[in-house]
Amino acid sequence: MGIRKHLFIGGEWKEAKRYEPLRSPYSGETIAEIPLADIAETDAAIEAAYAARGAMARMPAHQRAAILERLAALLDSRKDEAARLLALEAAKPMKYAVAEVARTVQTYKFAAEEAKRIHGETIPLDAAPGGEGRIAYTVREPIGVIGAITPFNFPLNLVAHKVGPAIAAGNTIVLKPAAQTPLSAYFIGELLVEAGLPAGALNIVPGSGSVVGNHIVEDDRVAMITFTGSPEVGIGIRSKAGLKKVTLELGSNAALIVDRDVDIERIIPRCVMGAFSNQGQVCISLQRIYVHEDVYDCFVQQFASATSRLKLGDPLDDATDISAMISGKESGRALSWIEEAVAGGAKVATGGAIQDGMLQPTVMTDAASELKVSCQEVFAPIVSINKIADIHEAIQQVNDSRYGLQAGIYTSNIHTALLAAEALHVGGVIINDIPTFRVDHMPYGGVKDSGTGREGVRYAVEEMTEMKLIVMNRMV
Ligand code: SIN
Repeated sequence: MGIRKHLFIGGEWKEAKRYEPLRSPYSGETIAEIPLADIAETDAAIEAAYAARGAMARMPAHQRAAILERLAALLDSRKDEAARLLALEAAKPMKYAVAEVARTVQTYKFAAEEAKRIHGETIPLDAAPGGEGRIAYTVREPIGVIGAITPFNFPLNLVAHKVGPAIAAGNTIVLKPAAQTPLSAYFIGELLVEAGLPAGALNIVPGSGSVVGNHIVEDDRVAMITFTGSPEVGIGIRSKAGLKKVTLELGSNAALIVDRDVDIERIIPRCVMGAFSNQGQVCISLQRIYVHEDVYDCFVQQFASATSRLKLGDPLDDATDISAMISGKESGRALSWIEEAVAGGAKVATGGAIQDGMLQPTVMTDAASELKVSCQEVFAPIVSINKIADIHEAIQQVNDSRYGLQAGIYTSNIHTALLAAEALHVGGVIINDIPTFRVDHMPYGGVKDSGTGREGVRYAVEEMTEMKLIVMNRMV
């Protein structure tokens, strides 16, 4: 039995009424005991954040920046411990866990920098008749209490994308981390206490979506919700949030186009990584690949061969490429989608089975667009490769989706690249790389069912502040 964690409310670790065991998705071993907050406990967390909002709003920018800088330094100094925690609670293979910790340090560093450059603009009011003799400027003010609901797939860095900008902007936070991966959020909570964050500025209340999540979303003291997760939950949040600001980072079935003029051998390792890192449990995981018919056979052969060499195993082993999905239920669900695809005429080029509790990385071809592996978000190590005759067909296929987060295209032709940039209906077009590309200061978010609003620290700070206008009349 691992350690027992408590609720973090108003700067104190408070015993909860209920706890439940947290199990490693890989070994099934109990690694901690986690509180399950009820309505009253969630309410106390909201009240603590509400009470602390004045102090946070008044804190000078250089102090907010200093807290975030100290947090980044503390995390960096304990990066091995943090990576091990990710591997344990999320079954994230160590190589990806180490990369996530490094990104998280960057995210908090960016947040520290952004804290010092939150500013408005001056407006020439005499551009309109009646505006003469006045000057105006805008400032950006903290929004107040932010409810942050985070997913299991990047338990450190997607918490950072909410907590970092919220602190940078002078807000307070009630955080509901994913039930499967709360330990990383606790780790950050502990480091933030050490870094000098005032009591109440961050509150951590794990629990169910229907109790903790709903209460945070519906409470009037919470001014904004920032959520990463499924479209179904996101749409529910939006309908319950009333006039609150809502940022939703939802899913996708991200696609890549491979043009006829591309060096296939060169791009294969990157594409394999994009499809299978973190067992495909990434919102921008490479799920659909549209390959020009001239290079299709070569691409499928090389992609399947590289995939079959991936090593399945213990996430704590540095050599492991693929480990367990977040739960047996999820790998069972993914397997049933593969079976549905095969029954619908798709072929399995490699993988397609569960091995020692882990879903093998699976490459499919000939999967029709209406099959779940094509049109839904698989969030599993499954990729479908499709043959296209030209770029227009590829663009049409990529856009034929309820989602639109990021899309990639490999091409040597500048005209093709520019056409794709213009015609792909997504939040981000990645030219000559996979749609899975992300660094943490770039704007990140989607269109259609992939969400609303943008993350990427500077853009999140904008979402987490309100613009105020000040008009001054000369009176002479
Ligand atoms: C996500 O799954 O939305 C995050 C992907 C990333 O940060 O790389």
